[in-house]
Amino acid sequence: MSTHARKLLIAANWKMYKTPVEALDFTRTFIPLAGHHAHAEVVLCASPTLLPTVVDAVRNNPIRVAAQDMHWLDQGAYTGETSPLMLKALEVTHVLIGHSERRQYFNETDTTVNLKLKSALAHGLVPIVCVGEHLAQREAGQTADVLKLQVSIALEGIDPAAAQPLVIAYEPVWAIGTGRTATPEIADEAHQLIRAEIAKALSPELAASTRILYGGSVKPDNAASLCCLDDIDGALVGGASLDPNSFAQIVANSATA
Ligand code: PGA
Repeated sequence: MSTHARKLLIAANWKMYKTPVEALDFTRTFIPLAGHHAHAEVVLCASPTLLPTVVDAVRNNPIRVAAQDMHWLDQGAYTGETSPLMLKALEVTHVLIGHSERRQYFNETDTTVNLKLKSALAHGLVPIVCVGEHLAQREAGQTADVLKLQVSIALEGIDPAAAQPLVIAYEPVWAIGTGRTATPEIADEAHQLIRAEIAKALSPELAASTRILYGGSVKPDNAASLCCLDDIDGALVGGASLDPNSFAQIVANSATA
């Protein structure tokens, strides 16, 4: 049993799944199972079409709601985009930034991640910035360089005084949706490296207080072994978060860590 310096954060990433009715079904089952866990903050990352429904469903509950992406500008002629002001108006509190699927399919770059991070902090949204290497990069021994670059560009020009809410998610791309989880050792090594990079870019104090989540095929049966490590402060869960029982089990199992 390890005592965590930082409060765990367990986030569900629903990706492009669920209608409002399905989201409500989820919250009806999930809230009685895991809505009042004190050991972890629970966040549901939902599509823009679900945000009002989910915010409403978790009202009076410690569960928080995140968008899966946002534009960095307040408004403008950017068809199809969602702005931080729109998220704030819906009482959304968190936002995922730079998920690997955004990087891979929608031209997200470290530079746009940096712009979005600055905007999220300026608007009082808790940013969950995703980083992680591809399989070919790991096999070529480039993991450390890739992570350092992603973190350092993401944090470029960030005022340390404003960066306290920052959350980072380490998601090795080869572990996302593949059933191939990073071993706790691989994850722990990456998390330590990311923490060192935060210390360099911001401050040692912020590096010590910033939560770094692990993501990539987290399931009820591996949540405890990942979350028990000192440098792993929670999980970002894709596939296994779609089912309320399975996600509640992950939240519960992280407590035994
Ligand atoms: P997974 O997805 O849990 O299905 O691997 C994680 C993520 O993409 O955030």
